[in-house]
Amino acid sequence: MKPITSKINSTGHLEIGGLDVIELAKKHGTSLYVMDVATIRSMANKYNTIKEIYPKTIIAYASKALSITALYQVLDEEGLFFDVVSDGELFTLLNAGVSPQKVFFHGNNKTNAEIEFALSKKIGCFMVDNLYEIERLQKIYERLDLRHKVEIMIRITPEIEAHTHDFIATGKRDSKFGILKEELLGAIDYIKTIPYIECRGLHVHIGSQIFDIKPFDVVVETLLDISLDIYTRKQILMKDISIGGGIGIRYTEADDPPDIENFVQGIAKHLKSYLKKINYPLEPTLILEPGRSLVANAGVTLYTVGNIKNIPESKTYAIVDGGMADNPRPITYGALYCADIANKMNEEKNKVYTIAGKFCESGDVLIKDSALPKIADGDILVVYVTGAYNYSMSSNYNRYRKPAMVFVEGGQDKLVLRRESLSDIIRNDVKV
Ligand SMILES: Cc1ncc(COP(=O)(O)O)c(C=O)c1O
Repeated sequence: MKPITSKINSTGHLEIGGLDVIELAKKHGTSLYVMDVATIRSMANKYNTIKEIYPKTIIAYASKALSITALYQVLDEEGLFFDVVSDGELFTLLNAGVSPQKVFFHGNNKTNAEIEFALSKKIGCFMVDNLYEIERLQKIYERLDLRHKVEIMIRITPEIEAHTHDFIATGKRDSKFGILKEELLGAIDYIKTIPYIECRGLHVHIGSQIFDIKPFDVVVETLLDISLDIYTRKQILMKDISIGGGIGIRYTEADDPPDIENFVQGIAKHLKSYLKKINYPLEPTLILEPGRSLVANAGVTLYTVGNIKNIPESKTYAIVDGGMADNPRPITYGALYCADIANKMNEEKNKVYTIAGKFCESGDVLIKDSALPKIADGDILVVYVTGAYNYSMSSNYNRYRKPAMVFVEGGQDKLVLRRESLSDIIRNDVKV
């Protein structure tokens, strides 16, 4: 749950990456995202152990969880590939110096401009989400008079339901994502007529925060069964299968996520035995697309507590200098978080607070009942597990400036995102 380098130092302060977070708050201000690079690298290594069982595996980080230049650099060093879902993510990745060949471009409504940008950069693979996209890809390719081979994979709606929150379940039949199974053979026939497009394989993503390995085993079987059916009927061999992301993590003590190494190795073992069972004609490349589980635990957010509002016989609010604009997950889908007072790590947690944000929504509450030491104005609150889907989902609501982000590693801090300035806030405004 906490970054792996977390400890309490001799002054009773939280330390991450060898640095006292209170000093980080003083130096960089709050609210502040802090990412522990050792945790990121360790998670990447855990994922990479799948290659001990099934060497033909690609770990493609789903960068929607956190798309910033510095993170692409670190994960590139760890040998990962990348999912992107927009030209903005692709642009950021290219800015980091990552090879476009390592890119899988997802999205259920890629714009013409995005397709054109990705084609011109010769990205590794388009993850085609619907039939219109194939036609648009074709039109744009021909208009640009390109010559290279375009590799695609097809996202199918697997009709597998993973046990997760409904808002983040994406594999059901009525999902807005993917091609229905009954449309697939028609799509394959159509693609066969396009000389410069090669369909490498099939893709499925069934949801997020999944703690159970069984749905992934079913995904592997479904993808291989469908691939074998395509081979039998059309003599076209799917060389890759992508089982998406979605492995769950611990946000609070109530969450019981799997150990990543066991989990991914279990998937690989199942793949190997199923390939044998159905006698699939080749060893496909297995693609995993973790987002949250790679980066969430590495991140914490530091806030300064301001006003404290006590409502007799009801609750006590501790109000921080951030909230739903830097972490919209609680207000969006009731996500739960844990916190500490980073300058009072050794003090008894004998009070219960509602941690509220500063934004103009009553629902802007980060944590409902948080047991903490007695809080004073100026204390630094640390919220854990904010490395994924926090900055990437953040907004400028109330024209508030987005926080800065620092990477910490081996006792060094590196500012990787500058805090937005007041002039950033009006940079796109045009006077009448
Ligand atoms: C296609 C695809 N792959 C991977 C992911 C990453 O999921 P997670 O961050 O839960 O691992 C998502 C998340 O929405 C996705 O849509």
